[in-house]
Amino acid sequence: MFHPFIAVGLGLYVLVVANALSGAQTSPAARRWGGLVMLGVLVQVAAGVVNILLSAPGWLQVVHLLLGTGLWIALITFALVVLGPRRVA
Ligand code: HEM
Repeated sequence: MFHPFIAVGLGLYVLVVANALSGAQTSPAARRWGGLVMLGVLVQVAAGVVNILLSAPGWLQVVHLLLGTGLWIALITFALVVLGPRRVA
């Protein structure tokens, strides 16, 4: 019952942080992964809303789970790109 509210709240937080950390002054990799994270949040929240509207059919549960896994991979990779050691030369 709480999941949609927590997901929207944390999704907004991730959108703001990813947007702030993938601006024009950052590396191309940070911009690419930051963009993927933001897109992933928007698509996943939309999928969650459709999930509710359609009473969570099996196929959409699988899509929602796959999108969640993809978003997690993008988020971890984005964090590694942003926080990882700078490459010299
Ligand atoms: C970034 C946002 C979100 C993430 C990462 C996320 C992730 C997940 C995950 C991992 C599950 C469990 C799937 C499973 O084990 O089968 C789930 C289930 C569910 N989510 Fe979300 N969710 C998000 C947003 C939303 C929103 C906004 C809604 C509704 C407005 C929603 C509705 C549901 C429902 C109804 C289920 C249970 C049915 C199912 O398994 O598909 N989700 N979500």
